[in-house]
Amino acid sequence: MDTRGRRPHSPLIDMSKPSPARMYDYYLGGKDNYAVDRAAAEDMRRAIPELFQTARENRHFLGRAVRHLCRAGIRQFIDLGAGLPTQGNVNEIAQQETPGARVVCVDNDPIVQAHGEALLGDDEHTTIVAADIREPAEVLGHPELKRLIDLNEPVGVLFVAVLHFIPDTQDPDGVVASFRDAVAPGSYLTIAHGTTAAGSAAVKKMTDTYDRATESVQLREPERIKEFFGDWEMVEPGAVHLPWWHPEIDPRPEPEPTRWHFGGVARKP
Ligand SMILES: C[S@@+](CC[C@H](N)C(=O)[O-])C[C@H]1O[C@@H](n2cnc3c(N)ncnc32)[C@H](O)[C@@H]1O
Repeated sequence: MDTRGRRPHSPLIDMSKPSPARMYDYYLGGKDNYAVDRAAAEDMRRAIPELFQTARENRHFLGRAVRHLCRAGIRQFIDLGAGLPTQGNVNEIAQQETPGARVVCVDNDPIVQAHGEALLGDDEHTTIVAADIREPAEVLGHPELKRLIDLNEPVGVLFVAVLHFIPDTQDPDGVVASFRDAVAPGSYLTIAHGTTAAGSAAVKKMTDTYDRATESVQLREPERIKEFFGDWEMVEPGAVHLPWWHPEIDPRPEPEPTRWHFGGVARKP
């Protein structure tokens, strides 16, 4: 830790460009971010005042979805694009609901790997895999995933605020389909995805900012986002803007909910 309580950084970490994982950490009030991330975030926030609120809305949806899945009997999770450890990690929530629940976090940002120990602590039921979700076979075949996840049993597959980092040119549909195909009937798919609903000026600002980051962003229309669920059965209320997805599970009202993120949960028949 340095004098401001931050963890030391790995030599693999690129501090010359903002990174989605570190910017998101800053939006949520975390400490694992650098000046380049904060400058990009603050520049964007001048054009999009609700920026940090949208991150909270996404994070709270993730928590509600995990609680819902645990209550539906899911005991193992693959968290794709898991991000940095912060409040409300999937493993914390899952284990509150279901002691012994197992969680594999997957992320390709070296800062997530570098800080993996903080995520793990002494939690033997959680692991972190440094991999790119655009390589599903590598993720699904990873020894750490195989150690904790039994693909013959239902699993909760989470793509929360990550698919918008995979442009159409890199086959996001094929990526999601690979995970849908690999898991057992009774599994659930949770998706949260940035939309274009905030209007063209805000979308352009966000797109331009991430074009200068380590990953670019492709926001999508709700109808396009629904396609990622394939033919799985949508859990009520279907795919919606996130503040409207089961707020009663853990009410955290924001003054005026935004429509930046869209998604839902679906079950494999
Ligand atoms: C906005 S954060 C979301 C974190 C968490 N899922 C949540 O919603 O609270 C997106 C994360 O996806 C990761 N990511 C982006 N593209 C990825 C890829 N191709 N493979 C693995 N992780 C990726 C980023 O490094 C970042 O940590």
